[in-house]
Amino acid sequence: MEARVTALVLLVTVSSILYTGAGAAAAGGDERAALLALMAGFVDSLGALADWTDGAKASPHCRWTGVRCNAAGLVDALDLSGKNLSGKVTDDVLRLPSLTVLNLSSNAFATTLPKSLAPLSNLQVFDVSQNSFEGAFPAGLGSCADLATVNASGNNFVGALPADLANATSLETVDLRGSFFGGDIPAAYRSLTKLKFLGLSGNNITGKIPAELGELESLESLIIGYNVLEGSVPPELGSLANLQYLDLAVGHLDGPIPAELGKLPALTALYLYQNNLEGKIPPELGNISTLVFLDLSDNSLTGPIPDEVAQLSHLRLLNLMCNHLDGTVPATIGAMPSLEVLELWNNSLTGQLPASLGRSSPLQWVDVSSNSFTGPVPAGICNGKALAKLIMFNNGFTGGVPAGLASCESLVRVRMQSNRLTGTIPIGFGKLPSLQRLELAVNDLSGEIPGDLASSTSLSFIDLSHNHLQYSLPSSLFTIPTLQSFLASDNIISGELPDQFQDCPALALLDLSNNRLAGAIPSSLASCQRLVKLNLRYNRLTGEIPKALSMMPAMAILDLSSNALTGGIPENFGSSPALETLNLSYNNLTGPVPGNGVLRSINPDELAGNAGLCGGVLPPCFGSRDTGVASRAARGSARLRRVAVGWLAAMLAVVAAFTALVGGRYAYRRWYAGEYGYTLKVDQKSDIYSYGVVLMELITGRRAVEAEFGEGQDIVGWVRDKIRSNTVEEHLDPHVGGRCAHVREEMLLVLRIAVLCTARAPRDRPSMRDVITMLGEAKPRRKSGSSGAASGKDGASAAAVAPAVVVDKDRPVFSTTPDSDYA
Ligand SMILES: *[C@@H]1O[C@H](CO)[C@@H](O)[C@H](O)[C@H]1NC(C)=O
Ligand SMILES: *[C@@H]1O[C@H](CO)[C@@H](O)[C@H](O)[C@H]1NC(C)=O
Ligand SMILES: *[C@@H]1O[C@H](CO)[C@@H](O)[C@H](O)[C@H]1NC(C)=O
Ligand SMILES: *[C@@H]1O[C@H](CO)[C@@H](O)[C@H](O)[C@H]1NC(C)=O
Ligand SMILES: *[C@@H]1O[C@H](CO)[C@@H](O)[C@H](O)[C@H]1NC(C)=O
Ligand SMILES: *[C@@H]1O[C@H](CO)[C@@H](O)[C@H](O)[C@H]1NC(C)=O
Ligand SMILES: *[C@@H]1O[C@H](CO)[C@@H](O)[C@H](O)[C@H]1NC(C)=O
Ligand SMILES: *[C@@H]1O[C@H](CO)[C@@H](O)[C@H](O)[C@H]1NC(C)=O
Ligand SMILES: *[C@@H]1O[C@H](CO)[C@@H](O)[C@H](O)[C@H]1NC(C)=O
Repeated sequence: MEARVTALVLLVTVSSILYTGAGAAAAGGDERAALLALMAGFVDSLGALADWTDGAKASPHCRWTGVRCNAAGLVDALDLSGKNLSGKVTDDVLRLPSLTVLNLSSNAFATTLPKSLAPLSNLQVFDVSQNSFEGAFPAGLGSCADLATVNASGNNFVGALPADLANATSLETVDLRGSFFGGDIPAAYRSLTKLKFLGLSGNNITGKIPAELGELESLESLIIGYNVLEGSVPPELGSLANLQYLDLAVGHLDGPIPAELGKLPALTALYLYQNNLEGKIPPELGNISTLVFLDLSDNSLTGPIPDEVAQLSHLRLLNLMCNHLDGTVPATIGAMPSLEVLELWNNSLTGQLPASLGRSSPLQWVDVSSNSFTGPVPAGICNGKALAKLIMFNNGFTGGVPAGLASCESLVRVRMQSNRLTGTIPIGFGKLPSLQRLELAVNDLSGEIPGDLASSTSLSFIDLSHNHLQYSLPSSLFTIPTLQSFLASDNIISGELPDQFQDCPALALLDLSNNRLAGAIPSSLASCQRLVKLNLRYNRLTGEIPKALSMMPAMAILDLSSNALTGGIPENFGSSPALETLNLSYNNLTGPVPGNGVLRSINPDELAGNAGLCGGVLPPCFGSRDTGVASRAARGSARLRRVAVGWLAAMLAVVAAFTALVGGRYAYRRWYAGEYGYTLKVDQKSDIYSYGVVLMELITGRRAVEAEFGEGQDIVGWVRDKIRSNTVEEHLDPHVGGRCAHVREEMLLVLRIAVLCTARAPRDRPSMRDVITMLGEAKPRRKSGSSGAASGKDGASAAAVAPAVVVDKDRPVFSTTPDSDYA
C-alpha cells in the first residue's frame, strides 16, 4: 500500500514535471517569436540586438542580449536600457506574461507605448525613463500586485497622471518627472502606503496638492515642484514622519507656510521657492534639526526672520531672498556652524548684520544686497576661508572695508557699491588669486587706489567710481592681464594717465571721467586692441589727440570732451573701424573737421566749445573752400544708419576681442571698414559658451538683468526666459541702437545666436565659424536699410535658430538636488 502510494506520487510528480516542461517549451517558442516580433518594431542603429536571430546557429533566446529567463524557461526580465533603440514598442511585449522587469530606459524611443500593460501582471520594475515616449501613459499597471518601481521620468507623456497606479499598493518608487502630464494629482495615491519616492516635478500639473498625500507614511521624497499647482500647502504633509526631501518650488501656491512642517523629524531639504506664499516664516521650522537646505525665496513672506532658524545646526543653505521680510537678522545666525550660503537680498531688512557672521561658519556665498542694513561689515566674515561671493550693495553699511577681506583668498566677487563706506581701500585685493569683480562704487572712500591691484592676475571688473579717491593711478594698473573694465569716474584722481598700456589684452571699457587727470593722453593707449569704450571727459588733459586712437579696431564710444586738448582732429578719425559715438566738445581743438566717416554725420554739439574748429559739419573755415558741408537731412539719415550699424560693429569688436582672448591663436582675422559695416573673419574654434555670454551681456546689458534679478543671476537663464516669454525686446539696451526698429530685430537675431552658443550640452553649440556665418546672415538687411520686406525672412531664420529652451535656476553651489534634471 505504502509502495503503491509512493509509486503513484512519483508518477504524478514525473508526469507533472514532463507536462510543465512541455508547456514551457511551447510557451518558450511563443516567447521567442514574441521577442523577434518585438525586435522587428525597433530601429537598432548600433546593432545591439544582433544576437536576436532565428537562424540555424542561433542561441536560445534566454541567452540573448538583455533577456533573462526564470527557472521555468520563461522570460522574466527584459533590460534593453542604454542601447540607443528607437522605433516602436509593439503590443508583442504583452506576449511575455512572466516579465517582472521591463527596463527600456535611456534609449531614443519617440513613439507611444501600448495602451494597456494589464497582461504584464507580474511586473515589479517598469523603467522607460530617459526616452521621448509620447502620448498617454499606459493603463493597467494598477493590476500588478508586486509592482515596486515605475520610472517614466524624462519623456514627453501627455494627459492625466495614471490614477490606476493607486491600486498597485506595493509601489515604492513612482518617478514621472519631466514630461507634460496635466490635470490634478490623484488623491487616490493615498493608498500607496509603501511609497518612498513620488516625483512629479517639471510637468504641467494643476490644481491643489491633495491633503491625502499626508497619508503616505513611508514617503521619503516628495518632489512635485515646477508645475502649476495652486492653493495652499496642506498642513497634513507635516505628518510624513519619514520625509527627507520636500520640493514644492515654482508654482502658484499661496497662503502661509504651515507650522506643521516643523514636525517633520527627518527632513533635510525644504524647497518652497517661487510661489506666492505669504505670512510669516513659522518659527517651528527651527525644530527641524535635520534640515540642510532651506529655500523660501521668491515668495511674499513678511515679518522677521525667526530666531529659531539659527537652531538649525546642519543648515548649509538659507535662502530667503526676494520676499518682504523686515526687522533685523537674529544675532544668533552669525553662529550657525554649517551655514555656507546666506541669501537675503531684496527684502526690507534693517539694522546691523550679526557681528559674528562668518566667524564660525564655512560661508561661501553671502548676498544681503538691496535691503536697508546699516552698521559695519562683519570683520570676520571670511574666517571660514571659503567665502567666494560677498554681495552687499544697495544698503547703508558704514565704517571701512574690513582689512580681512583683502586677505580672503577664496574671494571671487566683492560687490559693496552704493553704501556709505568710509576710509581707504585696504591693500591686498590685488594678491587674491581668484578675485574677478571688485565693486566699491558710490561710497565715501578716500585715499589712493592701492598699487597692489596692478599685480592682480584675475581681476576683470573694477568699479571704484563715485568716491573721493585721490592721487594718481597706479602706474601699471592697465597691465592686469584679465582686466576688462575699469571704472573710476567721479573721484578726484590726479596726476597723469599711466603710459603703460602695452599689455592690456582684455581691456574693453575704461572710464576715468570727472577726475583731475592732467598731462597728455599717452599714445600707447592705442595698443589696447580690445578697447570698446573710453571715457575721459571732464578732466584736465592737455596736448594733442594721439593719431593712433583713431585706428583702434574695437573703439566704438570715445568721449574726450571737457578737457583742454589742443591741436587738430586726426584726419583718419573718420575711417576709424568701429567708432559709433565721438564727443570732442569743450576742448581747445583747432583746424578743419575731417569730412569723412563718423565725422561727416557727427552732431555739431559734440564738437562744440572748440572755438578753433571749422569745416565739415561746422561752418566753413574762414578763407578756405569747404568740401564737406552736408545738409542737415543728409546728416540725419547718415547718423541713423550709423547708429544702426554701430551696435553690430561694437559687437563684432567684442567678438574679435573675445576670440583672441579665449582662443589664443587665431588663424585669420580681417577687418573691412566700409561705408555700411564691417566684416570679420575668424577661423577657429573657441569657447563658444562664454562668447555667447559676452554677446548677451553686450546686447541686453548686465544691468538689465541685475535690475530685475539681482546680483549673480545667470544671464543665460535670464535671456532664455525672456526669449521664451517673448519679452526680451523690452530689455534691449537702448545705448547700443536698441531704439531703432530694424536694429532691434537684428539684435534679437543675434541674441538667439547667443542662446545657441550657450546651449547646455557643448555638442549642441555651434562652432565659431558657424557663428560668424550666422552673424553674417543677420546683417545683409542692414545694407538695404529698410525694415520692411526682409523682416519676414529674418524673423523666420531667427525662429529657426532658437532652440526650445528650459529655464534653470542658477544654483551652482548645490547642484545635485534630485530634481535638478527635471526642474
Ligand atoms: C542613435 O540612433 C540614431 C537613429 O536611430 C542615430 O542617428 C544615432 O547616430 C545613434 N547614436 C549613436 C551614438 O549611435
Ligand atoms: C534600468 O537600467 C538602467 C541602466 O542599466 C539602470 O541604471 C536602472 O537602475 C534600471 N532601472 C531600474 C528601475 O532598475
Ligand atoms: C529614474 O530614472 C532616471 C534616469 O534614468 C534616474 O536619474 C532617476 O534617478 C530614476 N528615479 C529614481 C527615483 O530612481
Ligand atoms: C482599483 O481596483 C478596483 C478593484 O479591483 C477597481 O474597481 C478600481 O477601478 C481600480 N482603480 C483604478 C483607479 O483603476
Ligand atoms: C499646460 O497646461 C495649460 C493649461 O492646462 C495648457 O494651456 C498648456 O497647453 C499645457 N502645456 C503643455 C506643454 O501641455
Ligand atoms: C517647535 O517650535 C515651537 C516654536 O518655536 C516650540 O514652541 C515647540 O516647543 C517646538 N516643538 C518641539 C517638539 O520642539
Ligand atoms: C558731449 O560732451 C559734453 C561735455 O562733456 C556733454 O555736455 C554732452 O552731453 C556730450 N554729448 C553726448 C551726446 O554725450
Ligand atoms: C585755449 O587756447 C588759447 C590759446 O590758444 C588759450 O588762451 C586758452 O587758455 C586755452 N583754453 C584752455 C581751456 O586751455
Ligand atoms: C524683489 O522682490 C520683489 C518681490 O518681493 C519682486 O517683485 C522684485 O522683482 C524683486 N526685485 C529684484 C531686483 O529681484
